[in-house]
Amino acid sequence: MAKVIDGKAFAEGLRGRIAKAVDSLKSQHGFTPGLAVVLVGEDPASKVYVANKAKQTVEVGMNSWEHKLPAETSEKDVLALVEKLNNDPAVHGILVQLPLPKHIDSMKVLTAISPAKDVDGFHVVNVGKLSTGQDSLVPCTPVGSVMLAKDVLGSLDGLEAVVIGRSNIVGKPVAQLLLAENCTVTIAHSKTKDLPGVVRRADLVIAAVGRPEMVKGDWLKPGATVIDVGINRIERDGKGKLVGDCDYASCEKVAGAITPVPGGVGPMTIACLLYNTVKAACAARG
Ligand code: GUN
Repeated sequence: MAKVIDGKAFAEGLRGRIAKAVDSLKSQHGFTPGLAVVLVGEDPASKVYVANKAKQTVEVGMNSWEHKLPAETSEKDVLALVEKLNNDPAVHGILVQLPLPKHIDSMKVLTAISPAKDVDGFHVVNVGKLSTGQDSLVPCTPVGSVMLAKDVLGSLDGLEAVVIGRSNIVGKPVAQLLLAENCTVTIAHSKTKDLPGVVRRADLVIAAVGRPEMVKGDWLKPGATVIDVGINRIERDGKGKLVGDCDYASCEKVAGAITPVPGGVGPMTIACLLYNTVKAACAARG
C-alpha cells in the first residue's frame, strides 16, 4: 500500500513558519504584509476558497482585504479596482479569483495586476521569468505540488515526470518547475495517444485534468509517486463527495506514495499563496 502524503500537516508546518516570518517583519521591520482578494460574482466554490484565504491570511498575522463585486460588474470597474490596489502601498499581494464572469476578459485583468504584486504568478511577466529560470512569483498549486513530491522523494534529479493537463494555472507551470528540478518532463493532455502507456513511464505523476478518478492503478509504474491536483465534486451513494483526478482505491495499491483528496495538494495552495505574499512584501520593502 502506498504511503499517504499528508498535505494538511505539511501546509500547517509551512503556515507556522510564515507566521513567524510575519511576526518578525512586524516587530523588527515595522510593517505588516497584506493580501487583497477580488471576487466577482457568486460562484459557490470560489466563495469558499476566498473565505478560506481570508481566514488563513489573518491567522498568520497579515492584513487581508476582500473585495466582493456583483456578477454584472463591468470589466472597466474591475480594472479600476486592480489599478487602485496596484497603487496602494499597504497591499503587497493581489489575487483576482478565477473564473471571472464571461463578459470579463480574464487575461486583460491578470495582465493589469502589477507583476510585483501578482501572488498567483499568472502575469505574463512572471510566466516568462519562470520559464527562463529567473526569480519570480510562482503559481501556488504547482509550487505546493512540487514541495510535496520533494518531501517524499528528496531529489527529483533525472526522474521521469508525467504531467496530465496543460492549463496555465497548473499543468504548464508545474512542468516548468519539474524541469528546473532536472526531471524529464512529459505534458499529456486530452489529445494524447495511449495516455495509460505514457503515464506508465512515470516515476512521478502529477494529475491536473479536472476529470474525476480518471487515472487508474493499472496505468501506474509500481512504486510511482502520485500527486493528485484534482478536486472534483461527485455524487456517490446519494451523497456529495470530493474526489481527485486519480482513482484512489486502485492507485494506492500500486503507487509508492500518493496524495489524498481532500487533504493532499489542496491545503498547500493557500499556504503557498501566503508565502508569495510575504515574498512580495519583502521585495517591495527592499
Ligand atoms: N481559481 C481556482 N484556482 C485558482 C487559483 O489558484 N488562483 C485564482 N486566482 N483563482 C483560482
